[in-house]
Amino acid sequence: MVIGMLNQILFLLLAFFYFQVDCLHSSTHFCLADQKAALLEFKNTISLYGYCVQFISPRTNTYNESTDCCSWEGVSYNQLTGHVNAVNLSGSCRYGSLPANTSLFQLQGLQRLHLSDNNFNGSIPSELFRQLVSLTHLNLYHSGFSDLIPHEISLLSNLVSLDLSSYCFPASLRFDAQAFDMLARNLTKLRNLALQCVDMSGVAVTSFVNFSSSLGRLSLGDCQLHGQFPSEAFRLPYLQHVDLDWNQNLTGFLPKTYLSLALELLDLSFCSGSIPASFGNLTQITFLDFSENNFGGQIPDHKTVFRTSRLEVLDLSNNKITGRISKWEAEGANSLNFLNLQMPNPPLFLSIFFISENKLTGNIPSLICNRTSLVVLDLSKNSLSGTIPECLGNVSYGLQFLNLQMNNFYGEIPDSFMNNMLRNLLLNDNQLEGSLPRSSANCSSLEVLNLGNNKLTDTFPHWLASLPRLQVLILRLNRLHGSLPNSIASSDFSTLRIIDLSGNELTGPLPTNLFQNLRAMKDVPKKPLSE
Ligand SMILES: *[C@@H]1O[C@H](CO)[C@@H](O)[C@H](O)[C@H]1NC(C)=O
Ligand SMILES: *[C@@H]1O[C@H](CO)[C@@H](O)[C@H](O)[C@H]1NC(C)=O
Ligand SMILES: *[C@@H]1O[C@H](CO)[C@@H](O)[C@H](O)[C@H]1NC(C)=O
Ligand SMILES: *[C@@H]1O[C@H](CO)[C@@H](O)[C@H](O)[C@H]1NC(C)=O
Ligand SMILES: *[C@@H]1O[C@H](CO)[C@@H](O)[C@H](O)[C@H]1NC(C)=O
Ligand SMILES: *[C@@H]1O[C@H](CO)[C@@H](O)[C@H](O)[C@H]1NC(C)=O
Ligand SMILES: *[C@@H]1O[C@H](CO)[C@@H](O)[C@H](O)[C@H]1NC(C)=O
Ligand SMILES: *[C@@H]1O[C@H](CO)[C@@H](O)[C@H](O)[C@H]1NC(C)=O
Ligand SMILES: *[C@@H]1O[C@H](CO)[C@@H](O)[C@H](O)[C@H]1NC(C)=O
Ligand SMILES: *[C@@H]1O[C@H](CO)[C@@H](O)[C@H](O)[C@H]1NC(C)=O
Ligand SMILES: *[C@@H]1O[C@H](CO)[C@@H](O)[C@H](O)[C@H]1NC(C)=O
Repeated sequence: MVIGMLNQILFLLLAFFYFQVDCLHSSTHFCLADQKAALLEFKNTISLYGYCVQFISPRTNTYNESTDCCSWEGVSYNQLTGHVNAVNLSGSCRYGSLPANTSLFQLQGLQRLHLSDNNFNGSIPSELFRQLVSLTHLNLYHSGFSDLIPHEISLLSNLVSLDLSSYCFPASLRFDAQAFDMLARNLTKLRNLALQCVDMSGVAVTSFVNFSSSLGRLSLGDCQLHGQFPSEAFRLPYLQHVDLDWNQNLTGFLPKTYLSLALELLDLSFCSGSIPASFGNLTQITFLDFSENNFGGQIPDHKTVFRTSRLEVLDLSNNKITGRISKWEAEGANSLNFLNLQMPNPPLFLSIFFISENKLTGNIPSLICNRTSLVVLDLSKNSLSGTIPECLGNVSYGLQFLNLQMNNFYGEIPDSFMNNMLRNLLLNDNQLEGSLPRSSANCSSLEVLNLGNNKLTDTFPHWLASLPRLQVLILRLNRLHGSLPNSIASSDFSTLRIIDLSGNELTGPLPTNLFQNLRAMKDVPKKPLSE
């Protein structure tokens, strides 16, 4: 009995492997002969880079007349009808133009076509759009096509995902106003639209009003869009990911209310506009890039704006934001805000925060150290003042990049740098005084230390000599004094590439063996300057 069962199981297993290998399916056809022929013809007529044959093995190598196309790489077909429904020719080393009579276009039941990462040239043949009207997924990412995108693209009314992202320099594919407007109206099932670097300078941004409410991802970086992006487009209920970066002449007036609550990523860098109050409702947002805009006004009120606890990346750099950064602390007490840890369920993710090049004033609230997820903190090029919070150097605070340069910080640098994750410490161009922090010798990951242009008083920091990764040491324009060491051990400063001690009161020649590994030197005085 048991043996009988085992035999049966063994038989089933064998049968399973047998069917896998030969792609036989009890209830079905093979893929249709004409469909197979069309794929083989594509293989044999469209040019193939020679080196691919030798080194990469393009997937069409598996297209073989004597096997069923279910065993061909990237090909699948409907097992009831034998119609090929998906062809993935991504990265298959093809080049040259696709003629109007390309055999692939005969695969009329085709739903998914991936031609990304090839090197086709000339325009996308309009026959592709006229004949493959069943397509739900079309991916021509970096496929090499150029010129105007044929108007017939609006015939693909079943498309769920369209990626025409092209090379950026120079932009090669181009949408005209009419084609894009028809696409927006007719592709009512579209969920993913990626057009990175497609030239859309001729497109009217009002066309975005007519997009289907199913849209979830919109990638329109570097598309030369201009004009006022319609705020209605940000209200689509399923919108999760919006990337409009590098559209320098695009102004965005985001809706004050009813932003799409599903938004997870919003990249509006290098556009213009203002920060909408409605971000308070974006509870799913993880990535916000508003850098390089002309966003003015007060620093966002975190009580209402960053109610979200999922934010991982926030870039507000290079805007015109004003206000006292310390107000966050005052707001902290009762609200679910940016710095406050007292959240009911605090998965605090914020790890990258840039707000450099704005007009912020006030002290850094030490509450910032409660954001233990921070890896990058850049508050540079503002008008911040006060002392540098001691906790920033704390070992339990995993910062890797701290940039406070070009502000008005004063007082002593806290001697609390115990953090062996810290890689860049930039405190230059402030009003800091006192001695160099001895504790920085504990920062074994430190690569860049810039304390230049302050009022620091100390001697040559020989205690940094054994830092194993230090590449850049800039102490220029301070009040360092005393004589330089005559010579140093050969293992000292062995990873250093740039040292700048100019504008101090150090005396004596630099030790000749200091720069054995120096590959780039900047402003290194042969003889230290005395002022
Ligand atoms: C096609 O498959 C047959 C049988 O498996 C094999 O003999 C032949 O060499 C293959 N042809 C190519 C071009 O790979
Ligand atoms: C198509 O093939 C490429 C390269 O092998 C692969 O990265 C990609 O995921 C495939 N796409 C689909 C939809 O299967
Ligand atoms: C496309 O590439 C082929 C092969 O390199 C070349 O012969 C043809 O002139 C090119 N066509 C265009 C429009 O660039
Ligand atoms: C496509 O048309 C060209 C001439 O225009 C012809 O040489 C070629 O054989 C045709 N290819 C197919 C697949 O019909
Ligand atoms: C829109 O799609 C339908 C098919 O659903 C098609 O018949 C019609 O011609 C398309 N309209 C445009 C303007 O492309
Ligand atoms: C496009 O949007 C405009 C403005 O909302 C609307 O009046 C028009 O009816 C829409 N057209 C289509 C085809 O949805
Ligand atoms: C923005 O507009 C200016 C003035 O019209 C124009 O010179 C510039 O090329 C535009 N930039 C882009 C990226 O479209
Ligand atoms: C947040 O959403 C509520 C409705 O869910 C709305 O009343 C409120 O105005 C929105 N707040 C903002 C700032 O958009
Ligand atoms: C911030 O952290 C400090 C020390 O870990 C703690 O005493 C304080 O209560 C925290 N503040 C908030 C608002 O969570
Ligand atoms: C550093 O972190 C430890 C442990 O979280 C804490 O006890 C100490 O007060 C912190 N020191 C500073 C200066 O924030
Ligand atoms: C380095 O850290 C240790 C504790 O981890 C401390 O005892 C020592 O004084 C620190 N060194 C300096 C130079 O601050």
